[in-house]
Amino acid sequence: MSLRLVVVNTDEILAALTLDEKVSLTHGEDLWSTYAVERMGIPKIVVTDGPNGARGPVDPERSSGAATCVPCGSSLGATWDPPLIEQVATMIGREAREKGCRVLLAPTVNTHRSPLAGRNFECYSEDPLLSGRIAAAFVRGAQAQGVATTVKHFAANEAEYERYTTSSVVDPRALREIYLVPFEIAVREGGTLGIMTAYNRLNGTWCSEHHDLLQVILRDEWGFDGFVISDWFAAGSSVGSAYAGLDLEMPGPGRFFGPALADAVRAGLVEEGVVDAKVRNLLRVWERVGALDAADTGIEQSDLLHESVGAGSALARRAATDSMVLLKNDGVLPFPVSSIRHLAVIGPNADRVHIMGGGSASLEPHHRTTPLTALRAALGDSMAVTYEPGCVVDRYVTPLAATMHIDFFAGTDLRGEVVHQRDNESGRVTLFGNPPGTGATGFSFRATATVRADASGPHVLSLIQVGRARVLVDGSVVIDATGDVALPRGSAFYGAGSQEQRVEIDLSQDRDHHVMVEYVSAPGGPLQGIIVGLRARPPSDLIERAVAAARTADAVIVVVGTSDEWESEGFDRLSLHLPGEQDELVRRVSAANPNCAVVVNAGAPVAMPWIAQVPAVLACGLGGQEMATALVDVLVGNSEPAGRLPTTYPARLEDNPTHTNFPGEHGELRYGEGVYVGYRWYEARGIAPLFPFGHGLSYTTFVVDRPIVSSTTFVEGSTLQIDVPVRNGGTRRGAEVVQCYVEPCEPRCHRPRKELKAFAKVWLEPGTATTATLVLDDRSFAYWFPGDGLPVDTRQKLRMPLAQIAQPDTQPRWRVDSGRYRLHIGRSSEAIDHVVEIEVRGSPQS
Ligand code: BGC
Repeated sequence: MSLRLVVVNTDEILAALTLDEKVSLTHGEDLWSTYAVERMGIPKIVVTDGPNGARGPVDPERSSGAATCVPCGSSLGATWDPPLIEQVATMIGREAREKGCRVLLAPTVNTHRSPLAGRNFECYSEDPLLSGRIAAAFVRGAQAQGVATTVKHFAANEAEYERYTTSSVVDPRALREIYLVPFEIAVREGGTLGIMTAYNRLNGTWCSEHHDLLQVILRDEWGFDGFVISDWFAAGSSVGSAYAGLDLEMPGPGRFFGPALADAVRAGLVEEGVVDAKVRNLLRVWERVGALDAADTGIEQSDLLHESVGAGSALARRAATDSMVLLKNDGVLPFPVSSIRHLAVIGPNADRVHIMGGGSASLEPHHRTTPLTALRAALGDSMAVTYEPGCVVDRYVTPLAATMHIDFFAGTDLRGEVVHQRDNESGRVTLFGNPPGTGATGFSFRATATVRADASGPHVLSLIQVGRARVLVDGSVVIDATGDVALPRGSAFYGAGSQEQRVEIDLSQDRDHHVMVEYVSAPGGPLQGIIVGLRARPPSDLIERAVAAARTADAVIVVVGTSDEWESEGFDRLSLHLPGEQDELVRRVSAANPNCAVVVNAGAPVAMPWIAQVPAVLACGLGGQEMATALVDVLVGNSEPAGRLPTTYPARLEDNPTHTNFPGEHGELRYGEGVYVGYRWYEARGIAPLFPFGHGLSYTTFVVDRPIVSSTTFVEGSTLQIDVPVRNGGTRRGAEVVQCYVEPCEPRCHRPRKELKAFAKVWLEPGTATTATLVLDDRSFAYWFPGDGLPVDTRQKLRMPLAQIAQPDTQPRWRVDSGRYRLHIGRSSEAIDHVVEIEVRGSPQS
């Protein structure tokens, strides 16, 4: 299937629409869909997140159904494999269609600026070219299925700190050379039909009202002809957003578009032609994806959904193995299965399903398999597999694992008729908007559950709330957070939830306990809910037990990592360190048994203070629903760990480029490192990272021979081809990523020493060779020239001698300076195999 040429005359439709009909198309009807104009054959358009699977619109009354959960963004970035990502996105696009959706709220292409940014897991890389190429492939794959992608979040949305209000303060060069590049490539090379504005401000102006971003750069310069959608609740004005270039306010009903936009037109504040342009943008996209076809029902086709599950799993599994990065391997991996009789599996994440990050990118996968389950299934017949968690890393008390029956009341006093009922599968109750029958002015509910303890003894009960709630156990109030003073906010519910309240209670294994929560909604919020947690007090000798298990085993796998309580939309991470006592656990276990591989299950870099004493480390990322099986494939050598780091791992948090500017202060996030993002910074400062950008080992060995360059001179406006011979000199099939970094030898302004400008991934059978072809063009050598700031009259006012009044060059543009450049060809930003020097002839003025 491919995108259609416009056959319906959208201008004719536009001309026949009334103003009210037109503005109805510019805002949502509800959380996940737009309004239809039936008399004109314009359907309701349903949208879905997101970047690692087509979740489907979340119906508050039921789950949106399962979707194939692929590896998260930082893992997709780690594949360095645009053709694979195109296949993955093709599957996601197909599933989006099967769920009746025409818009996929993906991909997320913000940059890994700080290793602590909460949504790093969702984004591809610290490098703009790698992010852009992966994004363009994603867009091509998904859109070919008849869904429009919305590349997000435009722009400079690199932290969750004060996420709805902060201003990212970015200089023009950093903006152009780093942060806008992934969007630009997704537009120019991917042809995305949608762009989503970010919550934040950019240099003081809200992104949804940023005319320079949305019109001058996006449309006038890049030639974007799709639609611009707001992030959820990110629109903040009618007139400002209308003129800046926002087309669709989501979710609905709109606060600033829709009727408010019609009012602005009638009041003479917005010209009707501005509304027409938005409607034209939207209709043209709906037409191009095929949504204006009379036969398009937009209805979920569950029979198709069923069919795609098997194929999707195989692809998701391949994407997972191809994204795993072997960081270190002193001969331990792959494990020789036949010589192991007893395997000790250790670590909290071995028995946890951490396959995606938290927030809008999370979804219901087809299955949830822990690494421990997968290891037991694959190896349990041939060896003894023992497990010890080693420590507890929960940030919050685990949600109550019992069905909660909920009775809703229309008012806020828990009285009167029960207007609605629902059974919630756990203690986590999330409500988008008001439940049916409760009206618009607030509601209340009473939730009840019966619990039986696994073992008698002390337990921790907890409550997080949006609104006001109290918890009763066996009729007695144990947590009361209904007071007039609101509790301090925490990080749950995208920052709208309170901090967690905890209490210790005694539970018996011999009888049922009755838990009841009484809840009153928060005024006006779109998101309401509670999380009631319950867990037994953990034993105090977990590490000792893990060490004892390791000592008696032939081989040890330690699976450490984060969870969606630590990595999520809504908040940034607090530390580079693994949560809890995991560092201590790794140290003690690897000392007890050196035949040990550590698996790091996280979506962003973590500190590894134990790296010197551990022989093998595999970064398995957040690998989607097939992560556990893929992990076994890699650990036992059935698959190559084919990923490469899309982001530098710093040795210490203090080394990272944002350290003195992150998260931000006084309402601003200062991008103080300028263009020196990621490896550009470590190189400029001479700081050795823990693992460099692009790094990743293989189970085989590759030889990269001397590259052949098509010319020793590059003339602006042409291309340069580099053919790199690569041989697999080992005994196994494997993958290598050939990377080309460009260095200007005599830069005329501050420029990073090396910048990735081309890459190619090759797969080779043992003993075979191939040629990786890399192509460079103008942008490979260019930097953004922001214009000489000082106008002539100012210089004259300063009474400078005439000779010093240079003709100002005020036109900002990409500039290629003439001179000598080095091409570094290698396998990471640090592992350079060959350096080739060439001459560049830039434009005459430079
Ligand atoms: C996120 C977007 C997402 C939207 C809809 C927002 O909170 O920032 O990435 O697409 O919600 O779920």
